[in-house]
Amino acid sequence: MNTAADITSWLPVALSDGLPDGGVMRVQTAGHDLALWRAHDHSVHCVDNRCPHRGMRLSFGFVRGNRLNCIYHGWQYGETGACAYIPAHPELTPPESLCVPTLPCVDHGGRVWITLDPDATALPAMPAHPGLRSVAVNVSQDRIQAALGSGALPSTTHPQRGCSARVLDTSAFDCRIALDVATGDTATLVVSIQSVSAERSQLHTQLTAAASVELKVAASRWLDALRDHLEATA
Ligand code: FES
Repeated sequence: MNTAADITSWLPVALSDGLPDGGVMRVQTAGHDLALWRAHDHSVHCVDNRCPHRGMRLSFGFVRGNRLNCIYHGWQYGETGACAYIPAHPELTPPESLCVPTLPCVDHGGRVWITLDPDATALPAMPAHPGLRSVAVNVSQDRIQAALGSGALPSTTHPQRGCSARVLDTSAFDCRIALDVATGDTATLVVSIQSVSAERSQLHTQLTAAASVELKVAASRWLDALRDHLEATA
């Protein structure tokens, strides 16, 4: 039977727009150091951020085709984590024991998600909104959730880019915030919180509709104000 605990074991770790084909990025969450990468077939993958050969961070590596290449000696890892090629031994078929541990990883709802639970239930359907930006905040996930739940959000002042904000609703996966801009424009911001450590989080944010550059700038400035507000009140 599916349970909420199964579903909420999924963690948002990047905006889909932030990980292009051939991209590699480091992700830290719940004490895990991970490398997130996207193959040129657009699939996403998550592996331990440590090459089994000599321990180089795989997030320093690069993608060729559908393989993640270690930057140090060029060992190539396929989408299952198995080593597929060793440049120093081109005739060798690497044994199955040469592999890097992987985690379940999906691109869903405009975000890249991972789970530490191999039995996690598939994520429910959710709209894939365009990404705005990811913001690092020196505050724990719990405190951010409490602050958003309190409804006490900052405002920004500017003749064109000033914003007031109010929480529309929260779910197990994100929080929707209405932004009213000084120009009379409105936008809805979707905020997903990733726990990085006990004192640090990432906010992955999306706008629910295509927006003008001016509206994106206003929303982005408001996000800066939200980060400052969270860090000042934590
Ligand atoms: S440390 Fe990665 S290939 Fe040698």
